Amino acid sequence: MNRLTWSADWMLRLIICSNSLVILKLFILLASNLGSSTGLKLIMLEVPSPSYVGESVELSCIYELESDKLYSVKWYKNDDWPPGQFLPISGIRVDLSKSGMNSVFLKYIDINTAGVYRCEVSAEAPSFVTEECEKQLQVTVLPTSGPQISGVRPEYRIGDKVNLNCTSARSKPAAKLRWYVNNREAKPEEYELSNATRVLHQDNLETSSLILRFMALDKHFRSGVIRVKCTATVVHTTSNEAILRGESTDKNIEYYQGENLSQCKYNEKN
Ligand SMILES: *[C@@H]1O[C@H](CO)[C@@H](O)[C@H](O)[C@H]1NC(C)=O
Ligand SMILES: *[C@@H]1O[C@H](CO)[C@@H](O)[C@H](O)[C@H]1NC(C)=O
Ligand SMILES: *[C@@H]1O[C@H](CO)[C@@H](O)[C@H](O)[C@H]1NC(C)=O
Repeated sequence: MNRLTWSADWMLRLIICSNSLVILKLFILLASNLGSSTGLKLIMLEVPSPSYVGESVELSCIYELESDKLYSVKWYKNDDWPPGQFLPISGIRVDLSKSGMNSVFLKYIDINTAGVYRCEVSAEAPSFVTEECEKQLQVTVLPTSGPQISGVRPEYRIGDKVNLNCTSARSKPAAKLRWYVNNREAKPEEYELSNATRVLHQDNLETSSLILRFMALDKHFRSGVIRVKCTATVVHTTSNEAILRGESTDKNIEYYQGENLSQCKYNEKN
């Protein structure tokens, strides 16, 4: 048990219960001096979700005491956290100076900050009313580069099988991928598209891959080349393009440059 004294009237305790059911308890005790007639009501829990890595977020528990006296406001994260977790809790950095009887201010959130948060408000005797509310906090991590296209051969002849793999950079959630052939979206009616596969990496970020297959036909070649593009979307869209050269393309003249359309927009929200 870890105990921090906040100020004379405030106390913050971080507790891991022995049964490991509760991994985070922000226990705020405070004095209140209201009269009596009707009781404590929890209005809502505000959790800004999704939030971005590096941001600070404020979780607000909004309640009305009416006649009751406040006994405590407790905060929990992930009641079902696996056993064996110890303080400090990964992803939790509380700014006490900005937290109060209604809110908890978390600094520099990261992927481990994501989870289900619950606030529990209790009244003093004689009512002992306890109300609670929970909400999920999702943390978005944008990819740091565009998707990568692999499987491009130096040259394609009519009748050749084109077999390309587009893999997104790591992000949370995994990117949604799309293929374009000569700037038209490759639809499953016309092209063979695998189901996107997702890989969860050790750092909790995900990549997704999407395979595009088709037979190179005369109709696909424009001035001797087929332009293929893959886009990856996680809030924003990033893309990469590859140029498939036909055998008749003049190798001595660089008519088409491979374009890297990767764009990353950090610190921007739409
Ligand atoms: C495209 O640009 C991004 C960001 O500038 C870079 O990370 C990536 O490696 C580039 N991809 C290719 C295929 O050049
Ligand atoms: C596509 O490329 C990714 C990254 O290189 C790889 O992990 C994945 O297995 C590839 N998919 C197929 C079907 O080859
Ligand atoms: C993709 O998934 C669907 C539904 O799960 C399945 O019916 C289909 O056969 C899969 N397609 C490929 C190419 O794996």
